Amino acid sequence: MASTLLVAASIVLVYAFVKLYQWAISQRVDNYNKKTVAISGCDTGFGRLLAIRLVQRGVPVIAGVLRKENGESLKKEVRTPSLLTFGTLNVSDDESVKEFGKLVGKTVENRGLWGVVANAGILGNSGPDDWLNAQDYINTMQINTFGVMRFIQALKKYVKKQQGRVVIISSISGRTPRPTVGPYCVSKHAVEAYADVIRHELIDFKVTVHLLEPGFFTTNITQTATNDLDAVWNRLDAETKEEYGKQFFDEYKESRFSRLSHCADNLTPVVDAYEHALLGKYPKTRYWVGWDTILFYIPLATLPTFAQDWFIAFQRRGRPVPISMRK
Ligand SMILES: *[C@@H]1O[C@H](CO)[C@@H](O)[C@H](O)[C@H]1NC(C)=O
Ligand SMILES: *[C@@H]1O[C@H](CO)[C@@H](O)[C@H](O)[C@H]1NC(C)=O
Repeated sequence: MASTLLVAASIVLVYAFVKLYQWAISQRVDNYNKKTVAISGCDTGFGRLLAIRLVQRGVPVIAGVLRKENGESLKKEVRTPSLLTFGTLNVSDDESVKEFGKLVGKTVENRGLWGVVANAGILGNSGPDDWLNAQDYINTMQINTFGVMRFIQALKKYVKKQQGRVVIISSISGRTPRPTVGPYCVSKHAVEAYADVIRHELIDFKVTVHLLEPGFFTTNITQTATNDLDAVWNRLDAETKEEYGKQFFDEYKESRFSRLSHCADNLTPVVDAYEHALLGKYPKTRYWVGWDTILFYIPLATLPTFAQDWFIAFQRRGRPVPISMRK
Protein backbone atom coordinates (compact mmCIF):
# COMPACT_ATOMS: atom_id res chain seq x y z
CA MET A 1 0.00 0.00 0.00
CA ALA A 2 2.68 2.45 1.05
CA SER A 3 4.84 1.55 -1.94
CA THR A 4 1.91 2.01 -4.36
CA LEU A 5 1.38 5.45 -2.90
CA LEU A 6 5.07 6.22 -3.28
CA VAL A 7 5.04 5.19 -6.95
CA ALA A 8 1.89 7.22 -7.59
CA ALA A 9 3.36 10.25 -5.85
CA SER A 10 6.59 9.91 -7.88
CA ILE A 11 4.66 9.77 -11.15
CA VAL A 12 2.67 12.86 -10.21
CA LEU A 13 5.86 14.65 -9.22
CA VAL A 14 7.67 13.79 -12.47
CA TYR A 15 4.61 14.78 -14.47
CA ALA A 16 4.36 18.09 -12.63
CA PHE A 17 8.06 18.71 -13.18
CA VAL A 18 7.82 18.00 -16.92
CA LYS A 19 4.78 20.27 -17.22
CA LEU A 20 6.52 23.04 -15.31
CA TYR A 21 9.59 22.69 -17.52
CA GLN A 22 7.48 22.82 -20.69
CA TRP A 23 5.66 25.86 -19.39
CA ALA A 24 8.90 27.66 -18.51
CA ILE A 25 10.43 26.86 -21.90
CA SER A 26 7.36 28.16 -23.72
CA GLN A 27 7.35 31.56 -21.98
CA ARG A 28 8.55 34.50 -24.06
CA VAL A 29 9.72 38.01 -23.32
CA ASP A 30 7.45 40.79 -24.57
CA ASN A 31 7.78 44.01 -26.61
CA TYR A 32 9.65 42.33 -29.48
CA ASN A 33 9.56 45.58 -31.44
CA LYS A 34 11.82 47.25 -28.84
CA LYS A 35 14.30 44.38 -28.68
CA THR A 36 16.85 45.03 -31.41
CA VAL A 37 19.32 42.21 -32.10
CA ALA A 38 22.70 42.54 -33.87
CA ILE A 39 24.04 39.44 -35.64
CA SER A 40 27.40 38.76 -37.27
CA GLY A 41 27.84 36.50 -40.30
CA CYS A 42 24.47 37.00 -42.00
CA ASP A 43 25.76 36.30 -45.53
CA THR A 44 24.72 32.63 -45.45
CA GLY A 45 23.90 29.79 -43.07
CA PHE A 46 22.63 30.15 -39.51
CA GLY A 47 23.12 33.93 -39.30
CA ARG A 48 21.06 34.64 -42.37
CA LEU A 49 18.28 32.26 -41.30
CA LEU A 50 18.21 33.82 -37.83
CA ALA A 51 17.87 37.33 -39.27
CA ILE A 52 14.93 36.18 -41.40
CA ARG A 53 13.29 34.41 -38.44
CA LEU A 54 13.63 37.36 -36.05
CA VAL A 55 12.19 39.83 -38.55
CA GLN A 56 9.31 37.42 -39.10
CA ARG A 57 8.67 37.59 -35.33
CA GLY A 58 8.71 41.39 -35.42
CA VAL A 59 12.17 41.85 -33.90
CA PRO A 60 14.35 44.64 -35.40
CA VAL A 61 17.64 43.20 -36.68
CA ILE A 62 21.01 44.76 -37.44
CA ALA A 63 22.75 42.27 -39.70
CA GLY A 64 26.51 42.19 -40.23
CA VAL A 65 27.53 40.89 -43.65
CA LEU A 66 30.97 40.43 -45.14
CA ARG A 67 29.67 41.43 -48.56
CA LYS A 68 27.25 44.25 -49.16
CA GLU A 69 25.34 42.38 -51.88
CA ASN A 70 24.45 39.68 -49.35
CA GLY A 71 22.91 42.37 -47.15
CA GLU A 72 20.93 43.71 -50.08
CA SER A 73 19.59 40.28 -50.98
CA LEU A 74 18.76 39.63 -47.32
CA LYS A 75 16.78 42.85 -47.15
CA LYS A 76 14.74 41.63 -50.12
CA GLU A 77 14.19 38.25 -48.51
CA VAL A 78 12.84 39.33 -45.09
CA ARG A 79 9.14 39.77 -44.52
CA THR A 80 9.31 43.35 -43.20
CA PRO A 81 12.35 45.10 -44.78
CA SER A 82 11.91 48.16 -42.55
CA LEU A 83 12.88 46.00 -39.54
CA LEU A 84 16.23 45.09 -41.08
CA THR A 85 19.34 47.26 -41.08
CA PHE A 86 22.56 45.82 -42.45
CA GLY A 87 26.15 46.90 -42.51
CA THR A 88 29.36 45.39 -43.81
CA LEU A 89 31.27 43.66 -41.06
CA ASN A 90 34.60 41.84 -41.15
CA VAL A 91 35.12 40.53 -37.62
CA SER A 92 38.87 40.10 -38.30
CA ASP A 93 39.26 43.80 -38.79
CA ASP A 94 39.28 46.27 -35.85
CA GLU A 95 38.23 49.22 -38.04
CA SER A 96 35.35 47.32 -39.62
CA VAL A 97 34.02 46.21 -36.23
CA LYS A 98 34.30 49.78 -34.93
CA GLU A 99 32.31 51.06 -37.92
CA PHE A 100 29.65 48.42 -37.34
CA GLY A 101 29.51 49.48 -33.68
CA LYS A 102 28.79 53.04 -34.82
CA LEU A 103 26.00 51.81 -37.06
CA VAL A 104 24.48 49.96 -34.10
CA GLY A 105 24.77 53.05 -31.88
CA LYS A 106 23.08 55.19 -34.50
CA THR A 107 20.32 52.64 -35.08
CA VAL A 108 19.35 51.93 -31.46
CA GLU A 109 20.00 55.46 -30.14
CA ASN A 110 19.26 55.64 -26.41
CA ARG A 111 17.19 52.49 -26.28
CA GLY A 112 20.16 50.14 -26.20
CA LEU A 113 20.49 46.73 -27.76
CA TRP A 114 18.67 43.59 -26.60
CA GLY A 115 20.87 40.96 -28.18
CA VAL A 116 24.34 40.45 -29.61
CA VAL A 117 24.71 37.24 -31.61
CA ALA A 118 28.32 36.30 -32.35
CA ASN A 119 27.56 33.92 -35.18
CA ALA A 120 30.28 34.42 -37.81
CA GLY A 121 32.63 31.47 -38.06
CA ILE A 122 34.85 29.44 -40.36
CA LEU A 123 36.29 25.95 -40.34
CA GLY A 124 39.66 27.09 -41.62
CA ASN A 125 42.44 24.76 -42.67
CA SER A 126 42.19 21.22 -41.41
CA GLY A 127 43.98 17.91 -41.63
CA PRO A 128 46.45 16.24 -39.24
CA ASP A 129 48.49 18.71 -37.20
CA ASP A 130 51.57 17.50 -39.15
CA TRP A 131 50.15 19.27 -42.20
CA LEU A 132 49.37 22.53 -40.44
CA ASN A 133 51.33 25.46 -39.08
CA ALA A 134 50.72 27.99 -36.32
CA GLN A 135 49.39 30.50 -38.83
CA ASP A 136 46.53 28.10 -39.70
CA TYR A 137 45.52 28.16 -36.04
CA ILE A 138 45.84 31.93 -35.90
CA ASN A 139 43.72 32.35 -39.06
CA THR A 140 40.85 30.26 -37.71
CA MET A 141 40.99 31.89 -34.29
CA GLN A 142 41.08 35.30 -35.94
CA ILE A 143 37.39 34.80 -36.77
CA ASN A 144 36.05 32.11 -34.42
CA THR A 145 37.71 33.45 -31.27
CA PHE A 146 39.15 36.95 -31.64
CA GLY A 147 36.36 37.92 -34.04
CA VAL A 148 33.80 36.95 -31.40
CA MET A 149 35.66 39.01 -28.79
CA ARG A 150 35.95 42.08 -31.05
CA PHE A 151 32.28 41.93 -31.93
CA ILE A 152 31.06 41.52 -28.36
CA GLN A 153 33.49 44.09 -26.93
CA ALA A 154 32.28 46.66 -29.46
CA LEU A 155 28.60 46.11 -28.70
CA LYS A 156 28.63 45.30 -24.97
CA LYS A 157 27.89 48.85 -23.89
CA TYR A 158 24.65 48.89 -25.89
CA VAL A 159 23.54 45.57 -24.42
CA LYS A 160 24.27 46.76 -20.89
CA LYS A 161 21.93 49.67 -21.50
CA GLN A 162 19.01 47.32 -22.13
CA GLN A 163 20.24 44.57 -19.76
CA GLY A 164 20.00 42.20 -22.68
CA ARG A 165 21.73 39.03 -23.85
CA VAL A 166 24.95 37.90 -25.47
CA VAL A 167 24.66 34.73 -27.57
CA ILE A 168 27.71 32.94 -28.91
CA ILE A 169 27.85 30.00 -31.28
CA SER A 170 30.33 27.34 -30.31
CA SER A 171 30.20 23.70 -31.33
CA ILE A 172 30.51 20.29 -29.77
CA SER A 173 34.10 20.70 -31.01
CA GLY A 174 34.34 23.24 -28.21
CA ARG A 175 33.64 20.47 -25.68
CA THR A 176 35.14 17.26 -27.07
CA PRO A 177 38.41 16.81 -28.96
CA ARG A 178 38.23 16.06 -32.67
CA PRO A 179 41.31 14.76 -34.48
CA THR A 180 42.31 16.42 -37.79
CA VAL A 181 40.39 19.65 -37.16
CA GLY A 182 42.84 21.16 -34.67
CA PRO A 183 42.43 24.85 -35.53
CA TYR A 184 38.63 24.66 -35.37
CA CYS A 185 38.63 22.76 -32.05
CA VAL A 186 41.16 25.09 -30.46
CA SER A 187 39.21 28.16 -31.59
CA LYS A 188 35.94 26.76 -30.22
CA HIS A 189 37.44 25.59 -26.90
CA ALA A 190 38.83 29.11 -26.48
CA VAL A 191 35.52 30.77 -27.25
CA GLU A 192 33.81 28.55 -24.65
CA ALA A 193 36.26 29.82 -22.04
CA TYR A 194 35.65 33.41 -23.14
CA ALA A 195 31.87 32.95 -22.87
CA ASP A 196 32.17 31.47 -19.37
CA VAL A 197 34.42 34.29 -18.22
CA ILE A 198 32.19 37.11 -19.47
CA ARG A 199 29.07 35.34 -18.22
CA HIS A 200 30.34 35.68 -14.66
CA GLU A 201 31.49 39.26 -15.21
CA LEU A 202 28.30 40.49 -16.84
CA ILE A 203 26.08 39.23 -14.01
CA ASP A 204 26.81 42.55 -12.30
CA PHE A 205 25.28 44.37 -15.26
CA LYS A 206 22.28 42.03 -15.49
CA VAL A 207 23.43 40.91 -18.94
CA THR A 208 23.28 37.14 -19.55
CA VAL A 209 25.52 35.03 -21.80
CA HIS A 210 24.34 31.96 -23.73
CA LEU A 211 26.21 29.36 -25.78
CA LEU A 212 24.99 27.19 -28.63
CA GLU A 213 26.75 23.87 -29.00
CA PRO A 214 25.49 22.29 -32.22
CA GLY A 215 26.62 18.97 -33.62
CA PHE A 216 27.21 18.61 -37.33
CA PHE A 217 25.05 20.60 -39.68
CA THR A 218 25.60 21.27 -43.37
CA THR A 219 26.24 24.97 -43.87
CA ASN A 220 28.76 26.71 -46.05
CA ILE A 221 31.33 25.98 -43.33
CA THR A 222 31.16 22.26 -44.01
CA GLN A 223 30.82 22.69 -47.76
CA THR A 224 34.05 24.61 -48.20
CA ALA A 225 35.84 22.16 -45.90
CA THR A 226 36.90 19.73 -48.56
CA ASN A 227 37.94 22.35 -51.11
CA ASP A 228 40.66 23.70 -48.89
CA LEU A 229 42.12 20.25 -48.25
CA ASP A 230 43.88 20.05 -51.62
CA ALA A 231 45.69 23.30 -50.96
CA VAL A 232 46.89 22.02 -47.57
CA TRP A 233 48.22 18.81 -49.15
CA ASN A 234 49.88 20.56 -52.10
CA ARG A 235 51.96 22.86 -49.93
CA LEU A 236 53.50 19.99 -47.89
CA ASP A 237 57.20 19.22 -48.19
CA ALA A 238 58.32 16.01 -49.91
CA GLU A 239 59.23 14.32 -46.63
CA THR A 240 55.77 14.74 -45.12
CA LYS A 241 54.06 13.75 -48.36
CA GLU A 242 56.12 10.57 -48.36
CA GLU A 243 55.37 9.84 -44.71
CA TYR A 244 51.60 10.03 -45.25
CA GLY A 245 51.37 9.06 -48.93
CA LYS A 246 48.95 10.26 -51.59
CA GLN A 247 46.84 7.18 -50.94
CA PHE A 248 46.33 8.26 -47.34
CA PHE A 249 45.35 11.71 -48.52
CA ASP A 250 42.80 10.35 -50.99
CA GLU A 251 41.29 8.01 -48.38
CA TYR A 252 41.21 10.76 -45.79
CA LYS A 253 39.49 13.12 -48.22
CA GLU A 254 37.02 10.44 -49.16
CA SER A 255 36.13 9.72 -45.52
CA ARG A 256 35.78 13.46 -44.95
CA PHE A 257 33.31 13.61 -47.83
CA SER A 258 31.25 10.71 -46.58
CA ARG A 259 31.13 12.16 -43.07
CA LEU A 260 29.87 15.46 -44.48
CA SER A 261 27.08 13.70 -46.32
CA HIS A 262 25.84 12.54 -42.90
CA CYS A 263 25.56 16.09 -41.59
CA ALA A 264 22.03 17.24 -40.82
CA ASP A 265 20.89 19.62 -43.53
CA ASN A 266 17.85 20.94 -41.70
CA LEU A 267 19.20 24.00 -39.92
CA THR A 268 15.94 24.74 -38.08
CA PRO A 269 17.00 23.29 -34.68
CA VAL A 270 19.94 25.70 -34.50
CA VAL A 271 17.77 28.68 -35.46
CA ASP A 272 15.18 27.56 -32.87
CA ALA A 273 17.90 27.47 -30.21
CA TYR A 274 19.09 30.94 -31.19
CA GLU A 275 15.52 32.22 -31.02
CA HIS A 276 14.99 30.76 -27.58
CA ALA A 277 18.25 32.17 -26.26
CA LEU A 278 17.10 35.62 -27.41
CA LEU A 279 13.36 35.62 -26.86
CA GLY A 280 12.71 32.92 -24.25
CA LYS A 281 11.83 34.30 -20.83
CA TYR A 282 13.98 31.64 -19.17
CA PRO A 283 16.85 31.08 -21.61
CA LYS A 284 19.38 28.28 -21.06
CA THR A 285 23.08 28.90 -20.54
CA ARG A 286 24.00 26.15 -23.01
CA TYR A 287 21.96 24.83 -25.91
CA TRP A 288 22.86 21.33 -27.05
CA VAL A 289 21.56 21.06 -30.58
CA GLY A 290 21.23 17.80 -32.51
CA TRP A 291 20.78 14.24 -31.27
CA ASP A 292 24.44 13.39 -31.85
CA THR A 293 25.33 16.13 -29.37
CA ILE A 294 22.74 15.26 -26.76
CA LEU A 295 23.13 11.50 -26.80
CA PHE A 296 26.82 11.07 -27.55
CA TYR A 297 29.14 14.06 -27.51
CA ILE A 298 27.96 15.84 -24.37
CA PRO A 299 27.90 12.66 -22.24
CA LEU A 300 31.33 11.86 -23.73
CA ALA A 301 32.68 15.21 -22.54
CA THR A 302 31.84 14.30 -18.94
CA LEU A 303 33.76 10.98 -18.94
CA PRO A 304 37.30 10.54 -17.60
CA THR A 305 39.97 10.98 -20.30
CA PHE A 306 40.84 7.28 -20.62
CA ALA A 307 37.19 6.49 -21.37
CA GLN A 308 36.90 9.37 -23.86
CA ASP A 309 40.06 8.10 -25.60
CA TRP A 310 38.57 4.64 -25.80
CA PHE A 311 35.32 5.87 -27.36
CA ILE A 312 37.08 8.12 -29.86
CA ALA A 313 39.47 5.34 -30.88
CA PHE A 314 36.49 3.02 -31.32
CA GLN A 315 34.67 5.60 -33.42
CA ARG A 316 37.75 6.02 -35.64
CA ARG A 317 38.55 2.32 -35.89
CA GLY A 318 38.32 2.11 -39.71
CA ARG A 319 40.43 5.22 -40.33
CA PRO A 320 43.22 5.37 -42.90
CA VAL A 321 46.74 5.03 -41.50
CA PRO A 322 49.79 6.94 -42.89
CA ILE A 323 51.56 4.90 -45.58
CA SER A 324 54.84 4.78 -43.64
CA MET A 325 53.03 3.01 -40.79
CA ARG A 326 51.32 0.37 -42.91
CA LYS A 327 52.66 -3.17 -42.88
C1 LIG B 1 26.16 28.81 -49.35
O1 LIG B 1 26.53 29.87 -50.21
C2 LIG B 1 25.84 29.89 -51.45
C3 LIG B 1 26.34 31.03 -52.30
O2 LIG B 1 27.45 31.65 -51.72
C4 LIG B 1 24.34 30.01 -51.21
O3 LIG B 1 23.64 29.95 -52.42
C5 LIG B 1 23.87 28.88 -50.30
O4 LIG B 1 22.52 29.05 -49.98
C6 LIG B 1 24.70 28.84 -49.03
N1 LIG B 1 24.31 27.70 -48.21
C7 LIG B 1 23.85 27.83 -46.98
C8 LIG B 1 23.49 26.57 -46.28
O5 LIG B 1 23.74 28.91 -46.45
C1 LIG C 1 38.97 41.10 -43.29
O1 LIG C 1 39.98 41.79 -42.60
C2 LIG C 1 41.23 41.16 -42.58
C3 LIG C 1 42.14 41.97 -41.65
O2 LIG C 1 42.15 43.32 -41.98
C4 LIG C 1 41.75 41.07 -44.00
O3 LIG C 1 43.01 40.42 -44.01
C5 LIG C 1 40.76 40.29 -44.84
O4 LIG C 1 41.16 40.25 -46.19
C6 LIG C 1 39.37 40.92 -44.75
N1 LIG C 1 38.43 40.05 -45.44
C7 LIG C 1 37.57 40.51 -46.36
C8 LIG C 1 36.71 39.50 -47.01
O5 LIG C 1 37.51 41.69 -46.64
